[in-house]
Formats: sequence, structure tokens, C-alpha cells
Amino acid sequence: MKIDLKTPSAVATIYIGDEVIATRLPYLLQGQKNFVLTDENVYSLHRAFFEKWMQGETVCVLPAGEAYKNFSSLQTVLEKMVGAGLKRTSKLFAVGGGVIGDLGGLCAALYMRGIECVQIPTTLLAMVDSSVGGKTAIDVGGVKNVVGAFHQPKEVLIDPMFLGTLPDREWKCGIGEIVKYAAMDVRTLTALRENGGKMSKELAVSLIENSVRFKAGVVSRDEKETGERKCLNVGHTTGHAIELAYGLSHGESVLWGMKLETMLAMDAGVCKRSVGEELISLVDNALSLAPVGAVDLSTLGKAAEKARMDKKNVNDESVVMSVAKDEGEWTLLTMPVSEYAQKLQELANKLS
Ligand code: NAD
Ligand code: GLY
Repeated sequence: MKIDLKTPSAVATIYIGDEVIATRLPYLLQGQKNFVLTDENVYSLHRAFFEKWMQGETVCVLPAGEAYKNFSSLQTVLEKMVGAGLKRTSKLFAVGGGVIGDLGGLCAALYMRGIECVQIPTTLLAMVDSSVGGKTAIDVGGVKNVVGAFHQPKEVLIDPMFLGTLPDREWKCGIGEIVKYAAMDVRTLTALRENGGKMSKELAVSLIENSVRFKAGVVSRDEKETGERKCLNVGHTTGHAIELAYGLSHGESVLWGMKLETMLAMDAGVCKRSVGEELISLVDNALSLAPVGAVDLSTLGKAAEKARMDKKNVNDESVVMSVAKDEGEWTLLTMPVSEYAQKLQELANKLS
């Protein structure tokens, strides 16, 4: 499958399928020096991939994890790019999950004021979300994704072969972002509704295709997130606060964020109850897929303070959330920080 994401300044082409590496990669690599960024897990689990396709290229292998999506990694990678003698025509290939994709995309945006980036996502989360849409970033000073750039990848090559080595916890994280799409996209909601908790390779590929098609449509209409693209942040305001406060992974945090924000939205009369309850039950199914990272519910109100720094907020006093409203519909819910923290703590007390 081939999907074109057209923005005013770029066309990013997304290929999905078993054959995409063999058909696209030799063409993309030829004719110039290139740079490959990956992490230690992906490099050791998929060594054969690098040996087969990336011979002769500079391969930079970083330690894995969100903790490395930082200034120090940015500096390391940029210095290695300079050291490799890359030219304006060189490409950066980001082979990994969302951390490598976000960091690699930012390095590509900065090197010589922008070289082409090819995203090769290896986690389900990166396949359904982070590799598409051109958001690149690092975390700085305890704030998620606060330094970054919009830089559309030239191509995104989504090969489900990489899913073969994914641990249960990473499946759960990817399903977290898919449940997010279910809050706005009836096709994804229907697919999850009809397939319960079972995830075959065929279902995963069809959910990836739905998610990418949906996201490409949204981003092509609103690349810089002035309006419609905010829908892609369902669950993310509280999710990011939980990620920072408890060190859960991004996908797990988004699942918790979606659960809590949907409860807040139902309480506020903003989200239709039957729709919210179905969404929460999809979230609960996903959370039960693998041992859940620990959220200390007794301190949730305090953790919620971290949402004060969320990029969607327009001032320091209130928190803005993208929430489900009805089937296939979403809206913004704004609350004073103190009320938000208090309500979250009340919900947490009920859950514990
Ligand atoms: P990640 O990149 O840390 O990957 C999760 C773990 O899976 C890592 O330990 C990694 O080494 C391992 N891994 C990767 N591929 C594997 C494979 N095929 N088999 C086995 N293990 C593998 O995290 P993630 O969940 O992929 O992405 C989360 C990041 O993405 C966060 O930083 C988040 O902010 C970002 N994100 C960005 C966007 C965007 O639009 N740019 C959207 C959503 C999330
Ligand atoms: N993951 C949110 C976005 O791409 O806008």
C-alpha cells in the first residue's frame, strides 16, 4: 500500500507491506553517503537487516529509551553526521521506535538546515503514529517534546517484519495509540470492536493502514497543528504528565491518559456516556495485555501538575485536553489546573 501525505511544502510517501524494504531501500540509498540512526535493541535484534541493506553506510547506534531523547544525544548524532562528511544530498535513515524517529528526524531537520529523512519504524507505535506526520523533537528540562521542528520525512517504509521481535509491553503501547484513533475514526473503532483483544499480523497491518491513512489526512489538512491536528492528542495531556511523573512508557501513559481524560469528559457532560464507556473498555483491554507500568494513584493529583507545561495550553492557569465527544467526534476540554488536579485525584481514589 502507498499513501501520499501532501503538505504545502512537501510530499511524504508512506509504503506499507512485506516488500517495501526490498523495493524502496536500494533506490533510496544509492548515489550518496547516508547516515543510519538506530538503538541498541533494534541493532542487536535485526543485525541481519543492517548487514544486508546498510553495508558501507555510517551506522550510529544509541542506547535505547526515552531517557536518550535528549540534548546530549542530539549533539552526539549531529557531531557524528559532521564526522561522516554528509552532504546536502545525504539522507538520514531512522530505524527504530518513536525515540529514534523523533531524534533522527530532528537531526535531519538541523543538519545543513535540512536533509532528507527516511523513517523505518520498528515498533507498532512508530508504525501507526510517530513515523508519520513530520513532528520531530527531544525532551528538555523535564518537558516532553519541547524542542523540535516539523520536518516531513521523504518516505516512511513500514515493514511488519519488525513486529516479530516486539515484546508484549511494546504491543500494548502501540495499541494505546490505535485506541486513540478509535476515539476519532469509526473504521478503527469498528475493527477493534469486532476483534476484541486478539491481534494477528493481518489485523495489525490493517490497523496500521487505517491509522496511517487517517493521520495522513489530518496532517495534510493541518500540518502545523493550528486546529484539526489537535485531535491526534487525545489522552496525551494527562498521558505526558503521567509519563513524566511515573516513568511509564509513552504508549502506556497515553492509555492511562485516555482513560482518565475520558472519565473527566464524561463527568463534564462533554463526552457521550456510551461512547466514553466503550473507549474505556478498549483502554482496559489494552492495559491488561502486559504487566502494567505502575501509576501511584494516591499521588495522581500532584502528578497532574506536570500537565501545566503541556504545549497545548494557552496559559499557565488552565489545562487543555483533546477528548472524545461522540462516535468519530472529538473536542477540546479546558479546565483550571487546580480543578483538573482535584478531579483527577477524586477519579484516582475511586479507581484504587
Ligand atoms: P521507543 O523508541 O523507546 O521503543 C520502545 C522500545 O522498543 C525500545 O526499548 C526499543 O529499543 C524497542 N524496540 C524498537 N523496535 C523493536 C523491535 N522491532 N523489536 C523489539 N524491540 C524493539 O518508543 P516508542 O514506543 O516506539 O515511541 C515512543 C516515543 O515516540 C516517545 O518519545 C513519544 O513522544 C514519541 N512519539 C512521537 C510522535 C510523533 O508524532 N512524532 C507520536 C507518538 C509518539
Ligand atoms: N502524535 C501527534 C501528532 O502527530 O500530531
